[in-house]
Amino acid sequence: MIDFDGPTVLITGAATGIGRATARAFAAARASVVIGDVDPRADITAADIVAAGSKAVFQKTDVSDSGQVQALVARAVSEFGGLDVAFNNAGLLPPTATLAEQTEADWHRIMNVDVTGVFLCMKHRLADMAKSGRGAIVNTASVAGLRTDSGMAPDVAAKHAVVGLSKAAAID
Ligand SMILES: NC(=O)c1ccc[n+]([C@@H]2O[C@H](COP(=O)([O-])OP(=O)(O)OC[C@H]3O[C@@H](n4cnc5c(N)ncnc54)[C@H](O)[C@@H]3O)[C@@H](O)[C@H]2O)c1
Repeated sequence: MIDFDGPTVLITGAATGIGRATARAFAAARASVVIGDVDPRADITAADIVAAGSKAVFQKTDVSDSGQVQALVARAVSEFGGLDVAFNNAGLLPPTATLAEQTEADWHRIMNVDVTGVFLCMKHRLADMAKSGRGAIVNTASVAGLRTDSGMAPDVAAKHAVVGLSKAAAID
């Protein structure tokens, strides 16, 4: 287990699943955790961490909304005096269907959360990192960011975009 000894970690999509498990693991390694999620159950993740003796706060945030993401990053910086790690994990599981059967509504929903969400989280985080001169960003993509399978066109497109965004941000 890595010992983070105090740094602050911002995690999106920590109401359930990988984000919730990661938030608890960071907290167990003594990081302070800031959670952004549309699902109010993320408050339970934060409460569990606090009950276990570590620091955590939850701010309701839709990662596809630029103003809400900016406010979340500002909260993370102000709450614990700085931000060290951003884990951009929020994402949706799209319905399995051939491309012709996919709805435009699902396409836009997945692109808004999985792609625009990661773009906005990196954009606002990088602006702060430029000031502090430090930090790390981890984005959750998927095997679907490297390969494809049938019935997953929006997910494959979105996760390939996340891999591309991560490479582009690293070069920038
Ligand atoms: N579980 C898998 O098999 C798998 C495989 C490949 C990739 N992933 C990716 O891992 C990440 C986490 O997925 P998971 O499996 O833990 O699923 P999950 O559904 O348990 O977690 C996703 C989290 O994102 C949050 N979220 C959804 N829309 C949001 C929005 N607009 N703003 C803020 N938060 C939002 C949800 O409330 C939830 O807490 C996702 O990016 C997903 O695409 C998962």
